[in-house]
Amino acid sequence: MCSLLIIKLGGSAISDKNVPKSVRFDVIRNVCNDIKRALEEDNYSFILIHGGGSFGHPLAKEYNLRSGLVHPKARIGFSKTLDAMRELSMIVSNELRNHGIPVFPIQPSAITIMKSGSILKMNIDVVKLALKKGFIPLLWGDVSLDPEKGCDIVSGDYIIEFLARELRPNKVIFGTDVEGIYRDPKDPTSLIPLIDERNLFDVRKFLKNTQKIDVTGGMIEKLNSIVRISKLGVLVQVISLLSSGNVYRAIKGEKIGTIVRI
Ligand code: IPE
Repeated sequence: MCSLLIIKLGGSAISDKNVPKSVRFDVIRNVCNDIKRALEEDNYSFILIHGGGSFGHPLAKEYNLRSGLVHPKARIGFSKTLDAMRELSMIVSNELRNHGIPVFPIQPSAITIMKSGSILKMNIDVVKLALKKGFIPLLWGDVSLDPEKGCDIVSGDYIIEFLARELRPNKVIFGTDVEGIYRDPKDPTSLIPLIDERNLFDVRKFLKNTQKIDVTGGMIEKLNSIVRISKLGVLVQVISLLSSGNVYRAIKGEKIGTIVRI
C-alpha cells in the first residue's frame, strides 16, 4: 500500500517574513530535492500545502481580512491577497515541476467556504482524483469567502486539518523555520522530541508562558491544530525546512524535530 503524506511548507521558511514578497529559493529547492529523492525510492503519495509568508500576511493584515469585508477597500484587498498567493504558488509549483515533480496547483479560495473562523465546506474531489491519477496536489493558505462576515483567511494548517480528517494520511509533516517545538523558544536546548498525552499539558503551559515575551503566537495555535490532527490517529512531525535533507529524513521516519503522538 502506498503511504500518503501531507507536507506543510511554512510561509516563514519559504519566504522572509520581514521582506515583502521575498522568496527563499534555496529552501524550496531543498524540499523539491527531498521529495524527488523519496519518490524515486518508493511509491509515496504527497499533498503539499504552503503558507502565506511575506506574500499573504502583510496584505491580509493591511485589509483586515480576518474581520471580514469591513475595510473600505476590502474587496480589492481580498483580490490582491488572492493574487499574491497565486504568485507564490506559481513560484513553488514551477520549482517542483523543474525537479520533475508532477504538481497540480489547486486554489483553495475556489473550493472553500469559511464560517466563524473554520472551514464550513471544502470540495476536495479534485484533490482525491489528482492523487489517484499520480499528481501531487499543491494547496496553500488563502483568502476565503464567508457567508456571514464576507471573507476570512483559511490558513494552510486549517486546510491540512480538513484533509487529515477526510483522507487519514499516514503522516503530516509541518516544515517550519525552527527545529520543532521548544519549551522556551529562546533556549535552543529545550527542543521537545516527543509530545504525547503525558507531557501535552505541560507543553501547553510552557508555550502559554513564553508566548508573552516571544512572537510565538503562531506556535500555540499550530499546536492546537496539531493536537486535533494527532487525535485522529495521524502521526505529526514538526521539522525545520532550513536544514537540507530534513524533509527526506522525516519522510523516511527519522526521529528529528518534534514528533506528536497523542
Ligand atoms: C496564510 O496561510 C495565508 C494568508 C495570509 C493569505 P498560513 O497561515 O498557512 O501561512 P504561514 O505558514 O503562517 O505563513
